[in-house]
Amino acid sequence: MSKEGPIRLAVFASGSGSNFEALVEAVRKQTVDAEVALLVCDKPDAFALTRAKRLAVPSVSFYPKQFPSKGSFEKEVLDHLEEAGVDLIVLAGYMRIIGSTLLEAFDNRIINIHPSLLPFYPGKQGIQDAFDAGAIETGVTVHLVDEGIDTGEILAQEKVAIDPDDTIESLEEKIHAVEHVLYPEVIQTYIKKLQKEYA
Ligand code: GRF
Repeated sequence: MSKEGPIRLAVFASGSGSNFEALVEAVRKQTVDAEVALLVCDKPDAFALTRAKRLAVPSVSFYPKQFPSKGSFEKEVLDHLEEAGVDLIVLAGYMRIIGSTLLEAFDNRIINIHPSLLPFYPGKQGIQDAFDAGAIETGVTVHLVDEGIDTGEILAQEKVAIDPDDTIESLEEKIHAVEHVLYPEVIQTYIKKLQKEYA
Protein backbone atom coordinates (compact mmCIF):
# COMPACT_ATOMS: atom_id res chain seq x y z
CA MET A 1 0.00 0.00 0.00
CA SER A 2 1.28 3.48 -0.73
CA LYS A 3 -0.12 6.88 0.00
CA GLU A 4 0.62 10.48 -0.87
CA GLY A 5 0.00 13.39 1.49
CA PRO A 6 -0.99 13.40 5.15
CA ILE A 7 -3.13 10.72 6.76
CA ARG A 8 -6.78 11.74 6.59
CA LEU A 9 -8.94 11.26 9.67
CA ALA A 10 -12.69 10.98 10.09
CA VAL A 11 -13.96 11.62 13.61
CA PHE A 12 -17.23 9.94 14.59
CA ALA A 13 -19.18 11.64 17.40
CA SER A 14 -22.67 11.58 18.88
CA GLY A 15 -22.49 14.27 21.54
CA SER A 16 -20.54 17.26 22.73
CA GLY A 17 -17.45 16.67 20.60
CA SER A 18 -14.84 18.01 23.02
CA ASN A 19 -12.40 15.27 21.99
CA PHE A 20 -13.07 16.10 18.34
CA GLU A 21 -12.18 19.73 19.00
CA ALA A 22 -9.04 18.78 20.98
CA LEU A 23 -7.91 16.68 18.02
CA VAL A 24 -8.55 19.46 15.50
CA GLU A 25 -6.51 21.80 17.72
CA ALA A 26 -3.67 19.27 17.93
CA VAL A 27 -3.66 18.97 14.14
CA ARG A 28 -3.57 22.75 13.80
CA LYS A 29 -0.69 22.96 16.28
CA GLN A 30 0.99 20.23 14.21
CA THR A 31 1.37 17.87 17.15
CA VAL A 32 -0.74 15.43 15.12
CA ASP A 33 0.51 14.92 11.60
CA ALA A 34 -2.83 14.49 9.80
CA GLU A 35 -5.84 16.22 8.37
CA VAL A 36 -9.29 16.03 9.93
CA ALA A 37 -11.17 15.39 6.71
CA LEU A 38 -14.66 14.75 8.07
CA LEU A 39 -16.87 14.67 11.14
CA VAL A 40 -19.47 11.90 11.00
CA CYS A 41 -22.38 12.32 13.37
CA ASP A 42 -25.35 10.04 14.04
CA LYS A 43 -27.29 12.71 15.97
CA PRO A 44 -28.19 15.70 13.80
CA ASP A 45 -28.66 17.95 16.86
CA ALA A 46 -25.31 17.06 18.50
CA PHE A 47 -23.11 19.94 19.64
CA ALA A 48 -20.19 18.29 17.82
CA LEU A 49 -21.73 19.56 14.56
CA THR A 50 -21.73 23.14 15.87
CA ARG A 51 -18.06 22.74 16.70
CA ALA A 52 -17.35 21.38 13.21
CA LYS A 53 -18.97 24.42 11.63
CA ARG A 54 -16.99 26.80 13.84
CA LEU A 55 -13.77 24.90 13.12
CA ALA A 56 -14.55 24.72 9.39
CA VAL A 57 -14.32 20.92 9.33
CA PRO A 58 -16.65 19.25 6.80
CA SER A 59 -19.37 17.18 8.45
CA VAL A 60 -22.15 14.77 7.61
CA SER A 61 -24.98 13.70 9.89
CA PHE A 62 -27.52 10.93 9.69
CA TYR A 63 -30.63 9.52 11.31
CA PRO A 64 -29.50 5.86 11.34
CA LYS A 65 -33.05 4.67 12.05
CA GLN A 66 -34.11 5.93 8.63
CA PHE A 67 -31.99 3.20 7.03
CA PRO A 68 -33.43 -0.29 6.52
CA SER A 69 -30.42 -1.97 8.16
CA LYS A 70 -27.13 -1.31 9.93
CA GLY A 71 -25.34 -2.48 6.79
CA SER A 72 -27.10 0.04 4.54
CA PHE A 73 -26.41 2.85 7.03
CA GLU A 74 -22.73 1.94 7.20
CA LYS A 75 -22.51 1.63 3.40
CA GLU A 76 -23.75 5.22 3.12
CA VAL A 77 -21.16 6.33 5.72
CA LEU A 78 -18.49 4.37 3.86
CA ASP A 79 -19.31 6.20 0.62
CA HIS A 80 -18.67 9.51 2.40
CA LEU A 81 -15.42 8.21 3.90
CA GLU A 82 -14.20 7.06 0.51
CA GLU A 83 -15.17 10.33 -1.10
CA ALA A 84 -13.21 12.20 1.59
CA GLY A 85 -10.21 9.88 1.18
CA VAL A 86 -10.26 8.82 4.82
CA ASP A 87 -7.45 6.55 6.09
CA LEU A 88 -8.25 6.29 9.80
CA ILE A 89 -11.49 6.48 11.79
CA VAL A 90 -11.34 8.06 15.24
CA LEU A 91 -14.36 7.42 17.47
CA ALA A 92 -14.90 10.18 20.00
CA GLY A 93 -18.08 9.72 21.97
CA TYR A 94 -19.76 7.78 19.15
CA MET A 95 -22.57 5.87 20.86
CA ARG A 96 -23.10 3.18 18.24
CA ILE A 97 -21.54 -0.24 17.79
CA ILE A 98 -19.48 -0.45 14.62
CA GLY A 99 -20.72 -3.19 12.30
CA SER A 100 -19.05 -5.49 9.82
CA THR A 101 -19.31 -3.12 6.84
CA LEU A 102 -17.05 -0.51 8.45
CA LEU A 103 -14.91 -3.04 10.34
CA GLU A 104 -14.04 -4.88 7.14
CA ALA A 105 -13.36 -1.70 5.16
CA PHE A 106 -11.21 -0.22 7.97
CA ASP A 107 -9.51 -3.29 9.39
CA ASN A 108 -7.25 -2.13 12.26
CA ARG A 109 -7.96 1.46 11.28
CA ILE A 110 -10.68 2.36 13.77
CA ILE A 111 -9.63 3.75 17.17
CA ASN A 112 -11.82 4.47 20.19
CA ILE A 113 -11.42 6.30 23.47
CA HIS A 114 -13.21 4.97 26.53
CA PRO A 115 -13.47 6.70 29.91
CA SER A 116 -12.34 3.84 32.18
CA LEU A 117 -9.42 1.51 32.63
CA LEU A 118 -10.67 -1.30 30.42
CA PRO A 119 -11.55 -4.11 30.90
CA PHE A 120 -13.21 -2.44 33.90
CA TYR A 121 -16.44 -0.49 33.30
CA PRO A 122 -17.04 -0.99 29.57
CA GLY A 123 -20.24 0.30 27.95
CA LYS A 124 -22.09 3.57 27.83
CA GLN A 125 -21.49 4.85 31.36
CA GLY A 126 -17.86 4.17 32.14
CA ILE A 127 -17.40 7.21 34.39
CA GLN A 128 -20.67 6.82 36.28
CA ASP A 129 -20.15 3.07 36.79
CA ALA A 130 -16.69 3.54 38.33
CA PHE A 131 -18.01 6.34 40.55
CA ASP A 132 -21.06 4.34 41.68
CA ALA A 133 -18.87 1.31 42.44
CA GLY A 134 -16.88 3.41 44.90
CA ALA A 135 -13.64 2.76 43.01
CA ILE A 136 -10.63 4.77 44.16
CA GLU A 137 -9.15 4.83 40.71
CA THR A 138 -10.39 4.84 37.14
CA GLY A 139 -8.92 6.26 33.95
CA VAL A 140 -8.92 6.45 30.19
CA THR A 141 -8.25 3.77 27.57
CA VAL A 142 -7.49 4.19 23.87
CA HIS A 143 -8.00 0.99 21.91
CA LEU A 144 -8.51 -0.47 18.47
CA VAL A 145 -12.10 -1.30 17.64
CA ASP A 146 -13.25 -4.84 16.98
CA GLU A 147 -16.72 -6.39 16.86
CA GLY A 148 -17.12 -6.32 20.67
CA ILE A 149 -18.05 -3.47 23.00
CA ASP A 150 -14.83 -1.78 24.18
CA THR A 151 -12.85 -4.98 23.68
CA GLY A 152 -10.21 -4.28 20.99
CA GLU A 153 -6.43 -4.22 21.47
CA ILE A 154 -5.42 -1.60 24.02
CA LEU A 155 -3.05 1.05 22.68
CA ALA A 156 -2.69 3.19 25.83
CA GLN A 157 -4.17 3.76 29.27
CA GLU A 158 -3.85 6.51 31.85
CA LYS A 159 -5.03 6.36 35.43
CA VAL A 160 -7.21 8.98 37.12
CA ALA A 161 -7.66 8.94 40.91
CA ILE A 162 -11.16 9.19 42.37
CA ASP A 163 -10.68 11.31 45.48
CA PRO A 164 -13.07 11.14 48.44
CA ASP A 165 -14.34 14.65 47.70
CA ASP A 166 -14.85 14.06 43.98
CA THR A 167 -18.35 14.46 42.60
CA ILE A 168 -19.42 12.86 39.34
CA GLU A 169 -18.95 16.29 37.71
CA SER A 170 -15.42 16.80 39.04
CA LEU A 171 -14.49 13.26 38.00
CA GLU A 172 -15.85 13.85 34.51
CA GLU A 173 -13.79 17.01 34.26
CA LYS A 174 -10.60 15.20 35.31
CA ILE A 175 -11.24 12.40 32.83
CA HIS A 176 -11.93 14.76 29.94
CA ALA A 177 -8.76 16.73 30.71
CA VAL A 178 -6.74 13.51 30.45
CA GLU A 179 -8.58 12.45 27.28
CA HIS A 180 -7.88 15.72 25.47
CA VAL A 181 -4.12 15.19 25.88
CA LEU A 182 -3.88 11.41 25.65
CA TYR A 183 -6.03 10.87 22.56
CA PRO A 184 -4.06 13.16 20.21
CA GLU A 185 -0.79 11.63 21.50
CA VAL A 186 -1.91 8.06 20.85
CA ILE A 187 -3.39 8.97 17.46
CA GLN A 188 -0.05 10.54 16.49
CA THR A 189 1.81 7.36 17.50
CA TYR A 190 -0.64 5.24 15.52
CA ILE A 191 -0.32 7.51 12.49
CA LYS A 192 3.46 6.99 12.54
CA LYS A 193 2.84 3.24 12.49
CA LEU A 194 0.42 3.54 9.55
CA GLN A 195 2.84 5.76 7.66
CA LYS A 196 5.52 3.08 7.99
CA GLU A 197 3.08 0.55 6.55
CA TYR A 198 2.23 2.88 3.67
CA ALA A 199 5.91 3.64 2.92
C1 GRF B 1 -15.63 10.75 26.28
O1 GRF B 1 -15.61 10.63 27.67
C2 GRF B 1 -15.17 9.48 25.62
O2 GRF B 1 -14.23 8.77 26.38
C3 GRF B 1 -16.45 8.68 25.54
O3 GRF B 1 -17.45 9.63 25.25
C4 GRF B 1 -17.05 10.91 25.75
C5 GRF B 1 -17.13 11.87 24.62
O4 GRF B 1 -16.97 13.20 25.01
N1 GRF B 1 -16.34 7.62 24.57
P1 GRF B 1 -16.90 14.35 23.92
O5 GRF B 1 -18.16 14.23 23.04
O6 GRF B 1 -15.66 14.16 23.11
O7 GRF B 1 -16.91 15.64 24.69
